Amino acid sequence: MNRKLKMGMVGGGKDAFIGAVHRIAANMDGLIELACGALSHNPDIAKDSAKSLFLPESRTYTTYQEMIKAEAKLPEGERMDFLTIVTPNFVHFDPAYMALDNGFNVVVEKPITFTLDEAKKLQKKVEETGLVLALTHTYSGYPMVKQAKQMVKDGALGKIKKIIVEYPQGWLTRMSEREGNAQAAWRTDPSKSGKSGCMGDIGTHAAHLAEYITGSRITKLCADLNIMVPGRALDDDGNVLLKFDNGAAGVLIASQIAAGEENALKIRVYGDKGGLEWAQQEPNTLLLKWLDRPTEIYRTGGGYLSSFAKHNTRVPAGHPEGYLEAFGNIYRNFALTLSAKLDGTTPTTEMLDFPTAADGVRGMAFIDNVVKSGGSSEKWTDFTV
Ligand SMILES: NC(=O)c1ccc[n+]([C@@H]2O[C@H](COP(=O)([O-])OP(=O)(O)OC[C@H]3O[C@@H](n4cnc5c(N)ncnc54)[C@H](O)[C@@H]3O)[C@@H](O)[C@H]2O)c1
Repeated sequence: MNRKLKMGMVGGGKDAFIGAVHRIAANMDGLIELACGALSHNPDIAKDSAKSLFLPESRTYTTYQEMIKAEAKLPEGERMDFLTIVTPNFVHFDPAYMALDNGFNVVVEKPITFTLDEAKKLQKKVEETGLVLALTHTYSGYPMVKQAKQMVKDGALGKIKKIIVEYPQGWLTRMSEREGNAQAAWRTDPSKSGKSGCMGDIGTHAAHLAEYITGSRITKLCADLNIMVPGRALDDDGNVLLKFDNGAAGVLIASQIAAGEENALKIRVYGDKGGLEWAQQEPNTLLLKWLDRPTEIYRTGGGYLSSFAKHNTRVPAGHPEGYLEAFGNIYRNFALTLSAKLDGTTPTTEMLDFPTAADGVRGMAFIDNVVKSGGSSEKWTDFTV
């Protein structure tokens, strides 16, 4: 590529949380520039947000429909190369499908769509068009998560028997949705969030992390979903027992009413030789616990790490990398893959290592199966897709 990739954005205006994080992540490696945006559902906020990001008026749009149609008419190299979708869950499928239909690649927030059917349609569309779609399951972008995955794959831990993943947050402990918190308002509204609250919002991250690191798939689950704040319409807490296709047993806990917790995602995986532990709030450390020798501490930036961990690290050991860099890694790998495709070259396995539509379908199936199991008196529900 002799130029930066051009990004369009839907959502992510001054009224939003995650859009600004996407822009930082996309800017991090100098491979991408913001070219246009329909940055809010409110036209005034959309225009004002675009202005403060120095977007020209000609590339400032008030709806994604208008943006996709107008951008498709611009010459290649000038029009956006891909569309980033950072809207609430109920506004993921339409812009993603329309973008693909008009020849644009896509970066979309999780959960990929509002329903499982939509996710399958999107996956089919990606396959038909041959375009690239990245799904921002942020936590799979951390170097030490890549290292954990590689070590499980290489058999360092032996046969995997136990997977424990927990994702407690405390920010919905009170009825924040009635106190003007915009992020809480749509997340607790079934018409905007989907059929699950907490499990859809953060349980999907935990399930993705467990399947990503272990390379195993959930085959059965038994879910207990709770609404702990009276009057709330969707689950804000849940516990799920899991069975995996490699025979492992697991537990997934997700909660948004764990008062005092920030973003305490943590995973432990145990094989018959040893186990590993990684925690999002201490992301540059990976603990390796051995059955017959002392625990080892692996650190981001170490020369002994896998090619996947090294490829996703920017600074020498001891300079902490975090959430923004993990997000940046998804953008970087997406951009390198897309550039290779545009150049007619073959991306490396390391570049191709970012979540795709297939992961999105797994996430939506997780939501469906958890909700089904949570409402059933049967002990186990087969995980169907
Ligand atoms: N990967 C992660 O770690 C992570 C973290 C937070 C949020 N998310 C996901 O990101 C998405 C957005 O979450 P958020 O917390 O930033 O929400 P938010 O409410 O803060 O922002 C949503 C934005 O979308 C805009 N919007 C809504 N409908 C629109 C439309 N039709 N056209 C244009 N813009 C529209 C709003 O005006 C706002 O700018 C969700 O799907 C959420 O699950 C992911």
